Amino acid sequence: VRALLAHISDLDSGPGSSISPSLTSPDAQELFRTLLELRMLGKFGIDEILTKINVLREEFELTREHSPIEHVNSRLKSPRSILEKVVRRGVTPSREDIRQYIHDIAGVRITCAFATDVYQLAEILTGQPDIRVVEVKDYIADPKPNGYQSLHLIVEVPVFLSQRTEHTLVEVQIRTIAMDFWASLEHKIYYKYDREVPQHLLDELRDAARVASELDERMARLRDEVNGLALTEDP
Ligand code: GTP
Ligand code: MG
Repeated sequence: VRALLAHISDLDSGPGSSISPSLTSPDAQELFRTLLELRMLGKFGIDEILTKINVLREEFELTREHSPIEHVNSRLKSPRSILEKVVRRGVTPSREDIRQYIHDIAGVRITCAFATDVYQLAEILTGQPDIRVVEVKDYIADPKPNGYQSLHLIVEVPVFLSQRTEHTLVEVQIRTIAMDFWASLEHKIYYKYDREVPQHLLDELRDAARVASELDERMARLRDEVNGLALTEDP
């Protein structure tokens, strides 16, 4: 693992990429091929989830006034950052163990207007017959100590290859726009201070998270009031 880490950059991830054979052992070469393969499976997993999300989004747009889906992003971990996580977590660098213990090679993030949309979407997605829910972490019901809020799902989707079917894990994060705004600023601050954020900023962030969830609640109340009006005035 160390030998390979010393030789790969974040850029070594294209389909034809390989590391120089003179630089590393056959084991390192083999591990590198495994990482590329797992990344490929992760990409297909993302594609499957994105198709599902796009279908729902278009269906909502065509048949209802409001789609619960605001934006969708996806990201694939680089071979290097998969390997760094393997080291950090003390995972055996085998194909099976990496698949079993690293759940976020493929990630999809969905932003919704309201917290109720977050749960509605999660329910629709996890209710689909080809999706298996591996893990749910509800940081909306139970925010992290720093204030982070989001609904995290680890789901498994089948990917149909030419010779076999592979079940691939995808980390799906679903959150409101306000939660997403907070998380992206917190992330920048965290890295800017190299994980040692000064206490006053941590306090500010925690308070900002509280304000963000108040905003979510206020917007939901406004929406409910407007929906109620529409019902009473337009029978
Ligand atoms: P890793 O954090 O990926 O090592 O795994 P974990 O098992 O702790 O998973 P968790 O569900 O807690 O977090 C997974 C992902 O959620 C992270 O990679 C981030 O994208 C996001 N996340 C979790 N906590 C925070 C946080 O405090 N701030 C921000 N900005 N993002 C977070
Ligand atoms: Mg974490």
